[in-house]
Amino acid sequence: MPSLPLARRGTTLSSQLGLSDRIFASGKDKRFAERIDAGLELVEQGLREQVRYADEIADVTARYLLNAGGKRVRPMLTLLTAQLGEGATPDVIVAAQAVEITHLASLYHDDVMDEAQTRRGVPSAQHVWGNSVAVLTGDLLFARASQLVASLGEGAIRLQSDTFERLCLGQLHETIGPNEGDDPVQHYIDVLADKTGSLVAAAAQMGVMFSGAPDEYIRPVMEFGEKVGVGFQLIDDVIDLSGRGNETGKTPGTDLRAGVATLPVLKLRERAERDADAAALLERLDVEVLGAPESKDVSDAVAALREHVVTQETMDEAHRWAREAVEAIAPLPQGPVKRALTRFADTIVERSS
Ligand code: IPE
Ligand code: IPE
Ligand code: MG
Ligand code: MG
Repeated sequence: MPSLPLARRGTTLSSQLGLSDRIFASGKDKRFAERIDAGLELVEQGLREQVRYADEIADVTARYLLNAGGKRVRPMLTLLTAQLGEGATPDVIVAAQAVEITHLASLYHDDVMDEAQTRRGVPSAQHVWGNSVAVLTGDLLFARASQLVASLGEGAIRLQSDTFERLCLGQLHETIGPNEGDDPVQHYIDVLADKTGSLVAAAAQMGVMFSGAPDEYIRPVMEFGEKVGVGFQLIDDVIDLSGRGNETGKTPGTDLRAGVATLPVLKLRERAERDADAAALLERLDVEVLGAPESKDVSDAVAALREHVVTQETMDEAHRWAREAVEAIAPLPQGPVKRALTRFADTIVERSS
């Protein structure tokens, strides 16, 4: 399913990764689902109002990717954990918007760094306007997210800046690669926790902070968010190997072309030391895919990696992170939030887009 703006979908929640059917099975949970759905609508309206600029060019470039779609996974998590308190309070809605705008901004920058051709089913921003405009649009959106967070007080500002710092460090460490002597897989997992886990954890934390829920829930939901974030990003790396670019909204093999060493590649490198087939595939990826231009069809080589056991091992690893995420919320009370978060974790690692 291509990502569509929520406004163009049916009910919001029913379209979120199929989360609705899976998370909210029983009658009682359906009412819970309606509350989340209503919150998501408010977030969406606010996003459309927030991502507006008096400047004509900024107005077009900043709304470009927002209008192109997105799953709204992070705001949904904020709304879910807010149900541990008073639910979708005005501050919770603002926090969810700030998190989504931070994510949106990071996509503009990420596509420049990864030289991605498509995002959310449309040509990436730098493909349309060039690198400088894409980078500046990301900066404008980061500024807008900070303006929103400022209205939530010092605790929120601190959380937002600490999160943003980790996100940038994750991207930096991914770019630079491991230092000599570092374990490449551990380096990679640390990168995922920083570039993706940090913002997902902040999304979960803000739901508790701004709904008046007990402070003792902060640590479990943060840990949940961070672990789910790592699992989510591991699956994202597998999605990069998908043969169904129109379903993912991204161009298959983007990470491989750009030389981003994702877990399937790291595992292949490990194997290549003792396994001739793995070494041959690694060589093939280096020759055929690394640095290949958009015009070159690399789907056969990408498919060979997708079908290799290292990809299944990566998916198993993602499931392990999802299980650990669920273990982290053991201290939460039994009830719809815990059930929803548990299914959220499962769904995140079973996604294909
Ligand atoms: C993409 O995130 C970038 C990652 C950190 C994996 P999403 O998969 O949440 O992207 P959208 O918002 O649905 O486009
Ligand atoms: C995106 O990571 C992480 C951030 C935007 C911080 P990736 O580069 O792996 O994600 P996709 O595949 O482009 O969405
Ligand atoms: Mg990318
Ligand atoms: Mg990237």
